[in-house]
Amino acid sequence: MTTATNETEPRHFLDVDDLSEEELFAVLDRADEYKRAVDAGEDHADLSGQTLGMLFQKASTRTRVSFETGMTQLGGHAIFLGEDDIQLGRGEPLKDTSRALSRYVDAVMARVFKHENVEVLAEYSDVPIVNGLTDDAHPCQTLADLLTIREHEGGFEGVSGSEATGGSSNGGFDGVSAVWIGDGNNVAQSFALGCALTDIDLTIATPEGYEVDDAVLERARELGGDPTVTTDPVEAVTDADVIYTDVWISMGQEDERDVRMNDFDGFQVNADLLEHAPEASVMHCLPAHRGEEITDDVIESERSIVFDQAENRLHAQKALLSWLLE
Ligand code: CP
Ligand code: NVA
Repeated sequence: MTTATNETEPRHFLDVDDLSEEELFAVLDRADEYKRAVDAGEDHADLSGQTLGMLFQKASTRTRVSFETGMTQLGGHAIFLGEDDIQLGRGEPLKDTSRALSRYVDAVMARVFKHENVEVLAEYSDVPIVNGLTDDAHPCQTLADLLTIREHEGGFEGVSGSEATGGSSNGGFDGVSAVWIGDGNNVAQSFALGCALTDIDLTIATPEGYEVDDAVLERARELGGDPTVTTDPVEAVTDADVIYTDVWISMGQEDERDVRMNDFDGFQVNADLLEHAPEASVMHCLPAHRGEEITDDVIESERSIVFDQAENRLHAQKALLSWLLE
């Protein structure tokens, strides 16, 4: 919460590159510490008395529950604000909603359609705005993805005090190759930025017309990444460490179902595709549409790390919130 006279500029998290590389690793290391604290049953009420507003224009299971549970575990409180439950749904301008919320809560997490809407929230907010998914980006998902990759693929042994690099030059991601298969959507775009910041070697395989935006690829290169772009899923996954996919029809694209189902033919993550990547772990941000972008047997197989990803949303977001609010 801020008052009218508070002049401190808040930090926002609208996409992954709102964090520097050093800050990103600080958040990941803090997430590791919170994960260990939960496992050990240690008290970590670092946001005691603080409140998170959670604004949702779209459905959610993981984002809603992990943020709310995270605030509880940190000794704070979260308020669910469905668009149709608040005056926003009756036409109150977003900028007024943002300014009013700033006077009550300590941070706002927002899941909206247009990415510009989190930018408007941030412009008018005196407290941190956290992007809980827009049509263009899903940076909280990327935090959890990176944490999961580091645990499973990076040879990272966990944080020890401030010695957080795991003995590796890039904080535990040395030599990891990841492949995105499917739609170059919001999850893919934030993941591309996250891979660039962590030096993960990324290949993106999409059908023609569904590529990650050029501006995102350009930004990834500015951040030191060098993503490979292809339309050939088999070539992309060969010898990969991680294969990551997401739905072919994102929230808001339901009218495009028939066209998309046709266009994504050949991009399913299934047993045949995995034969080309015998060591690869399989990731999915969930919710999954089994039989479309991924098969049931793959998601249920030992190679699937999707529920570790889901769990890591909790730890990563707690770390982000406490880092933004300290
Ligand atoms: N991955 C993810 O953001 O899931 P929800 O839509 O359930 O929040
Ligand atoms: N790309 C999906 C992600 C859901 C978490 C969507 O936007 O619907």
